Amino acid sequence: MAQPEQFAQGLSIGIIMDGNGRWAKKRGLPRTAGHKKGAEVFQDITRYCNEIGVESVYFYAFSTENWSRPVEEVGAIMRLFGEYLIKAFDYEKENNRVVFLGDRTALEPRYQKLMDEIEQKTAHNTGMTLNVAVNYRALAEKVAKGELRPEDIDEAAMCSEMYTHGQKDPDFILRPSGEKRLSNFMLWQAAYSELVEMDVLWPDFTRHDLDLAIEEFNRRTRRFGGI
Ligand code: FPP
Repeated sequence: MAQPEQFAQGLSIGIIMDGNGRWAKKRGLPRTAGHKKGAEVFQDITRYCNEIGVESVYFYAFSTENWSRPVEEVGAIMRLFGEYLIKAFDYEKENNRVVFLGDRTALEPRYQKLMDEIEQKTAHNTGMTLNVAVNYRALAEKVAKGELRPEDIDEAAMCSEMYTHGQKDPDFILRPSGEKRLSNFMLWQAAYSELVEMDVLWPDFTRHDLDLAIEEFNRRTRRFGGI
């Protein structure tokens, strides 16, 4: 059987971490327990992506819509985010370049400072690019809120407006927990991405599940609009 290193080399993967709440509910635990386990899985899967030669990974950690959750839950997610930001310095040793996507100005100043520091410290690393989307919103929302005029949008403007400017678009977007939606995540960059959904809740997600997702992607034939 082919080793993961042979079929993951150079891939770009988007991952929607989903199902933390359901995982916790099934166990009679508070939703925050699901996020805690989800954050551990985030770290392990990041390491694994690095080990098997993935070129870039995009994690969906928090969207603008997520602010509508109870304050305790938002606070817990932010604390975990902060905790794992500090642990993210490990990724520097792993030669990862860390990039945060999204409008960070709404986050606490200490997190913003950490994010800036991590990005600067890892900017010249040559290994995998680890993208973490936090307070992420689709460009269309800017238009809806009058922050961008529709007539100013052409392909060049779209690309430069993107937090992912200059990076490879995801080859596939992985959504665990059985949901079949993009939920506003990377709508522009996902134009030709394959969608791989899996029936496993994110806190239960394993390295083996990622192998299965990559195998599924490799079975698909991509035509990019051609024949
Ligand atoms: C979706 O599950 C998950 C989130 C909105 C939060 C994800 C955050 C983390 C894993 C922790 C912090 C981030 C990092 C990068 C360390 P859900 O709560 O919508 O699950 P449900 O659909 O089962 O309710």
